[in-house]
Amino acid sequence: MAQIIDGKAVSAAIKEQVRDEIAHSGISAGLAVVIVGNDPASRVYVNNKKKACEFCGIKSFEYALPEETTMKELLELIDTLNNDKNVNGILVQLPLPKQLDEKAVIERISPQKDVDAFHETNVGKIMIGNYSFLPCTPAGCMELIHSTGISVSGKECVVIGRSNIVGKPMAMLLLHENGTVTVCHSRTKNLAEVCRRADILVAAVGKPNFVTADMVKEGAVVIDVGINRLENGKLCGDVKFDEVSEKAGWITPVPGGVGPMTIAVLMKNTLTAAKIQK
Ligand code: GUN
Repeated sequence: MAQIIDGKAVSAAIKEQVRDEIAHSGISAGLAVVIVGNDPASRVYVNNKKKACEFCGIKSFEYALPEETTMKELLELIDTLNNDKNVNGILVQLPLPKQLDEKAVIERISPQKDVDAFHETNVGKIMIGNYSFLPCTPAGCMELIHSTGISVSGKECVVIGRSNIVGKPMAMLLLHENGTVTVCHSRTKNLAEVCRRADILVAAVGKPNFVTADMVKEGAVVIDVGINRLENGKLCGDVKFDEVSEKAGWITPVPGGVGPMTIAVLMKNTLTAAKIQK
């Protein structure tokens, strides 16, 4: 039976560190969160980000824009926030409504305030290992792996999913810690066989219960990035928890695994942004 990796506890410790550093240093840090439209999942995430800011002593500024917002309006807001000294970090919650060009929006955010690390400049810095902002979800996964006490160095690491937000930067962070990294995707042949090689398996597919026990090596560390809402309203990961937890050595639950970590790293990045801008 796998040991459960407690994302709530690990994320709480990180947020406490951020809170203590802010309290002791007297640094003032501010995060602007922009949400466009009425996506209920985005609303929940944004509320959680605001709550985390409150806990850490970070000022949060919310901009809730209507569904029909134009590119011009959104870019003008970003320009204003880029020039606002009270705003150290800017986060535009994704996905955006169809009429908005996500890539152009991300590129408009000043790289120094891009606490999501989505801007090309920050992605490039992650690639060469010279980064100030950690990509929030992958960095959160790395913290969870570290919390097991298992070293990544020399391990077979398999990442399922190649998104710009999770899969690709996750592979980079594992590589920086000397993992032997394979990235799988929808065209991968013999997926189960490749996954079974993994000492560390990261699932970022976006499909409920996609990873089954036959895809997991005995004793592996299994990190489940998926947050899927089922028809009955329940949250479920990309990993079939009941059967995989019988075989893995370590596993993250959903909810309470990777989800809270993303927000904790965001708090850390906002503090870093404030320090850089001082
Ligand atoms: N939507 C889902 N995850 C994220 C995230 O980490 N950052 C932003 N900005 N939007 C998201």
